[in-house]
Amino acid sequence: MLEIRGGVGMSGLIRLDDTWALDHIDAEEIDGGMREAALQLQLLVDRKGAGSEYTGWLNLPIDAPDSVVARLEHAAADLREQSDTVVVCGIGGSYLGARAGLEFLAGVPSRSATDSLPDILFAGNSLSSWQLQKLLDRLAGHRFSVVVISKSGTTLETAVAFHILRTELVRRFGAGKARTRIVAITDSEHGTLHDLARDQGLVTFDLPRDVGGRYSVLTPVGLLPFAIAGLNIRAMLQGAAEQRTASLGSPAATNDALHYAVARRLLNTSGKNIELLTSFEPCLHFVGEWWKQLFGESEGKNGKGIFPASAEFTTDLHSLGQYVQEGTHSLFETVVDVPAPADVAFLCDADSPDGLAYLNGRSLSAMNHDARIATLLAHHDGGVPVLQLTVPDVSEGSFGAAVYFFEVACAVGGYMLGINPFDQPGVEAYKHNMFALLAKPGTEVEAADIRSRLARGN
Ligand code: PA5
Repeated sequence: MLEIRGGVGMSGLIRLDDTWALDHIDAEEIDGGMREAALQLQLLVDRKGAGSEYTGWLNLPIDAPDSVVARLEHAAADLREQSDTVVVCGIGGSYLGARAGLEFLAGVPSRSATDSLPDILFAGNSLSSWQLQKLLDRLAGHRFSVVVISKSGTTLETAVAFHILRTELVRRFGAGKARTRIVAITDSEHGTLHDLARDQGLVTFDLPRDVGGRYSVLTPVGLLPFAIAGLNIRAMLQGAAEQRTASLGSPAATNDALHYAVARRLLNTSGKNIELLTSFEPCLHFVGEWWKQLFGESEGKNGKGIFPASAEFTTDLHSLGQYVQEGTHSLFETVVDVPAPADVAFLCDADSPDGLAYLNGRSLSAMNHDARIATLLAHHDGGVPVLQLTVPDVSEGSFGAAVYFFEVACAVGGYMLGINPFDQPGVEAYKHNMFALLAKPGTEVEAADIRSRLARGN
């Protein structure tokens, strides 16, 4: 049983409101869809559906042993003590969840104001030499450490960046001290990173074999970076556990995760093949990036799936708004609402020359709220169905709940679509070509084939 410390309780569950999509889907269809979703949920929970060997994420919030959480907290404290900067090195499912949580929760009250928290930077998520050089320049003179995350250990972007960062650590601190500045999160039994970590005697955390990358936020993949940032990972798991109870245990009629899966499915069958996840709080930007991977990699196969896109309002209303309002009408919108944890008052003299006196006494949150309602109505009137999701607050518990909510909706939606939501065979195609072009041993045949295709131009 996990002991919750720090007094950060769960604030509630993720809620769906489909009122502004009901022009496009009708109540009878929703009822039928909910019955179907309940059957698919049962398949998921019984581990009888496609890819069931990768459904370990279902129990992560309730299975996390206190000893592992305590070890994570201890490793995080250790890294904090020796570092002013921690570089988290990973890509895809070994990157986006951690970044989503860190950006969503930056500045939450639970982070101790007295602790000196390290800056957390990211690497290994591209092959850009410019990006890596800027990171190395920024690390100069800093006491930095590295958390490397890779389940396979062979992902090129991560492996190359880690190699360069490890070399820099050894150059700066010596081989022995460099080892204490690296934590590896990888497969418990196999892989290049697993072997390297074992041979070098690095501190390691296991990435459970039955959890795929994009469902791994609530493993050490996300939890260690969150703990380093001073976040309450026990409260996060508690929030996810409460959402788990609601999402796996509620009757279909009151199960908002199933309802979301059904609404998406029905909108898709009505001809909407793009989902635009929007929000009016920039702290949700990387939640959108994580969500795109979760749904894109899970659903986009066998010629099926909704294309997941994201936008940040009101910023993108000034760029994408025109298309959403009057474009091809192939999209629906899911707006994620979360109350801002702080507000800024707007005070303005009656004769202010900028003409803003009418806003005197209003807060920025009130303006943002009105902008959200105005956008909802405008987009609805422009023929765009809008689903509304509410996250109760900016807290660790709510982040854990949101992760679990989307994971269940994605898995059930994938089963309704008739695909395996836990594999990603298509991701390998570019890797084959790239490794051949880079002359990785064993790829000579493909390399010759690619060269002749390039010469032919087809
Ligand atoms: O969801 C996935 O499986 C992928 O996005 C992987 O997480 C990503 O490719 C990184 O893989 P790895 O953790 O093996 O380096």
